[in-house]
Amino acid sequence: MVLDKNEVEKLMSEDKLDMADFLFSDFDDIFDKTSYYSMYKDALIKEGYWTWERVHYPDKKWGLIENIYTHQKTKVINFSSMSYLGINFHPILIERCKKAIEKYGLSSTSAAMLDGITDLHLKAEARLAEFLGFEDSILFSSGYACMLGTTQGLLLNPKAAVVYDEYSHSSLQDGIKLASARRYIYKHNDLNDLEQKLIQASKHSQKLLLTEGVFSIVGDIPEIAKIISLAKKYNFRVMIDDAHGIGVLGKTGKGIIEEFSLKDVDIYSAVLSKAFGLTGGFTCSKKSVTDFLRLYSNPVIASSNVSPVFCEGILAVIDILESEPNHIKDLSNNIVYMRKMLADLNFPLEKAAVPIFCIPIGDATKLRKVSRFFYDNSILIHPIPYPRAPKGRGCIRFCLNANNTKEEIDIFIQILKIANDKFSLFNDGLFQVDRDEVHV
Ligand SMILES: Cc1ncc(COP(=O)(O)O)c(C=O)c1O
Repeated sequence: MVLDKNEVEKLMSEDKLDMADFLFSDFDDIFDKTSYYSMYKDALIKEGYWTWERVHYPDKKWGLIENIYTHQKTKVINFSSMSYLGINFHPILIERCKKAIEKYGLSSTSAAMLDGITDLHLKAEARLAEFLGFEDSILFSSGYACMLGTTQGLLLNPKAAVVYDEYSHSSLQDGIKLASARRYIYKHNDLNDLEQKLIQASKHSQKLLLTEGVFSIVGDIPEIAKIISLAKKYNFRVMIDDAHGIGVLGKTGKGIIEEFSLKDVDIYSAVLSKAFGLTGGFTCSKKSVTDFLRLYSNPVIASSNVSPVFCEGILAVIDILESEPNHIKDLSNNIVYMRKMLADLNFPLEKAAVPIFCIPIGDATKLRKVSRFFYDNSILIHPIPYPRAPKGRGCIRFCLNANNTKEEIDIFIQILKIANDKFSLFNDGLFQVDRDEVHV
């Protein structure tokens, strides 16, 4: 399709334009694409359908957000925070980080292999490894950099092969794209398809099975023990991205490994930006693996190391987890309560009791309308449109944290019920996507 101004205006008036059209249509100039996109976006903002990119003003209980474009301020109940344990304002964490800033400044100002390592980095890496039961760990400046850098660093060889779930997060998919290993993608949590892919890939010499502990796109846990045992049957190393499991699963917050007493996890990666309330990511494994990544992972060698402040944050958060089990308990009680309330509404629940829930919406126009409905009703959820979701496969995601009160959950359930009556939200069942399309 060749898009010009008239065509863009016509499609907009018929509500037939989609964000994907700006990527894949023909335009003469890059700036045509960007200016028509701006025109489209301005129209959505004017009509009140731009519910993304909101400014947050910190508030202990009710959140205050501002529409970044219209500057309209709205008080909201936050069901979008992934600070699952609600400890990002914990006084011990804040106090210790303040002291670290005074001593170390804010930034590591350099890549780890140059001048970016302080004693706090070493302490945090050692503590994470000890906490999770591995020989060593390596820090990354973000969770995205961690997943990208771990896969890219380990799979940089055309003889290598990686088998991974179709729902894998874009940080993993991007790392795999940068590496030269052969890719084998299996249908989400389909053990037969997984075994087929493992058999096909078993001719390769350096083999990795990659899965998430909790899939963020759907909010489910794969059949992890069976997946690992199949991978081991065909001599694959196993890597888990436990971004949404660390701090959430397991009695003491050690994630998917603790929850299912897993034995054969070779590489365990997780992020600091969710339950830990910080910024960064880390990979735990044998020392030879972390040492290798220190020199062959692009985000480690070509990007500044995580801030020393977050290293102190890691030490503080692990201390908090060890001394205050109530945060994990409060989260788990909230999950139980929310699942009961959702079940009463006939919400199509996933099996796993995790704090992420997804409603597939599909059509982009419906997604905008549903997002605006929640926004207008002071509920903050995640609308996930293209390009974060596959084209035509947008979804609404909502999350729980340990600080959400029963009263907040009850209000949310009331609004969700009205939204379901109005938009038939639960008709499509659980999340289904076409293979190779997922990029969330
Ligand atoms: C499964 C998964 N891996 C990695 C990341 C990246 O983490 P960060 O936001 O800390 O960069 C995310 C973030 O949403 C995620 O869901």
